[in-house]
Amino acid sequence: MTALYYLAAAALFRFLYVIYYRLFVSKLAKIPGPAVSKVTRFWLIYQEFTGRRRLYIHDLHKQYGPVVRIAPDEVAFATGEAVKQIYSVGGSGYEKTKFYDLFMNFGARNMFSTLTKGEHSERKRRIADRYAKTYVMQPNIFSGIEERARTLVAKVSQDCAAHGSANVYVPLHCYALDCITHHLFHPLGTHSIEDTEDLKMMRELSYHDSLKARYFQYYNPRLYKLVKKLANPFASAKKLDQASSYVLENCNNKSALAEEHTVVGKLRTRKDSVPALEAASECLDHLIAGIDTTGDGLCFLMWQLSRPESVNIQDKLREEIRDNPGAPIDDLPYMEAVVKEGLRRYSPIPMSLPRCVPDEGRVLEGYFLPGKTIVSCQAWTLHQLDTEVFPRPGEFIPERWLEEGGKEERNRLFFAFASGGRGCIGKNLALMEMKLLLKEVYGSYRTVIAPEMTSSMEISDQIIASRPKDQVCLLRFEELA
Ligand code: HEM
Repeated sequence: MTALYYLAAAALFRFLYVIYYRLFVSKLAKIPGPAVSKVTRFWLIYQEFTGRRRLYIHDLHKQYGPVVRIAPDEVAFATGEAVKQIYSVGGSGYEKTKFYDLFMNFGARNMFSTLTKGEHSERKRRIADRYAKTYVMQPNIFSGIEERARTLVAKVSQDCAAHGSANVYVPLHCYALDCITHHLFHPLGTHSIEDTEDLKMMRELSYHDSLKARYFQYYNPRLYKLVKKLANPFASAKKLDQASSYVLENCNNKSALAEEHTVVGKLRTRKDSVPALEAASECLDHLIAGIDTTGDGLCFLMWQLSRPESVNIQDKLREEIRDNPGAPIDDLPYMEAVVKEGLRRYSPIPMSLPRCVPDEGRVLEGYFLPGKTIVSCQAWTLHQLDTEVFPRPGEFIPERWLEEGGKEERNRLFFAFASGGRGCIGKNLALMEMKLLLKEVYGSYRTVIAPEMTSSMEISDQIIASRPKDQVCLLRFEELA
């Protein structure tokens, strides 16, 4: 009994000491933040499991300022200087955290899920040229996207003629899927806008409810494996999902059929031959990265443009498109401003992007951070917190991007594609997809929100990206003379 008593007392003493240490002794003790977050990670985990991490961190920034301790070993930042130091400076040295293990495919890493700098550079070298701006502007790539934009408009206007309105969420995600598979595998790309078999793949990739399962996997990888095994003891014999089979097939048996200019064409012809599973892991990651980001970004943007308060914005955009019929897509400044404001206000990846402080520690925004502290910035907060840089941050105002004053600071805080060596490799492709689609739609149509639209377009967070809550966006397309 006495031994038990001593054990309990020792445990209590240790528990109280840990609390005391985290609150007052830890090197992070001086960083502002709520006591609960300084003492335990559980409160943050609770926010994550309930899909509130982004908003919780944003509220903390509003309360405590641009530097906040969000867990005993984790700090969130919301300044341009922090973005520069964490994500950009000289390769930064801040490597990705284990969170990115979640994004391995077929048990193999890819560029996105690679944690260390050396390994990442090696993977990036294999394919970076395929995503350069000059590359994606080449006629065979550009015209493939234009063609898919035209197919989308034809499909949506057919739906509108038949039913009065169209749920653009579906064709926009199909468009993103068809564009990225065109870039990865042409002529083996999907045609999901028109083909119902390919449409199933879009549905499989976009309509899932996996937030809790993914966080569970992150925090308890072993337990997750065990639970999966128990739930399905024949897991190894399980049929692969459609997207995985499609990618494996295109990277193995059919890879010779893909044209040279595609991503898989490049991987196939490299001298330092890329192992088949790594090539498949890379391509599946690009497919997944390309579908929801661009699809959701376009969906939010077209919904916003269709709202009554955006009538003038739509008119100005249309005027610019019609007045410059032969202009290169990047020479339309108002279009550029509309897309950028869409990505500011509705960033498809608005969440924090976690990185690890190098072993020797760093000083950031005046605070010393010991090695292995987790640090991050999130687009949602960078795009809204500083109201001198972004006045009326909750409103959709493309004109803010056309003003000369404050341009540098706005660009410094623009984080939709992250920044530095690990920023989005698909940025040029995504921007081109978005602009070509807007040109195709707003050059000939006016869009309005369908009166029967009752679905919620609230931003709903997934593991890293966000999407419209109900995944339904009913618009009417009205053809103009
Ligand atoms: C509007 C569309 C898009 C947005 C907003 C977006 C945003 C981002 C962001 C914020 C990151 C950094 C993530 C992190 O560090 O955790 C990222 C990385 C990445 N994105 Fe995108 N993305 C978009 C479209 C695409 C497309 C079309 C592709 C297709 C290839 C793509 C492929 C990737 C890849 C491979 C990475 C990892 C880069 C690396 O680690 O070096 N993204 N993206």
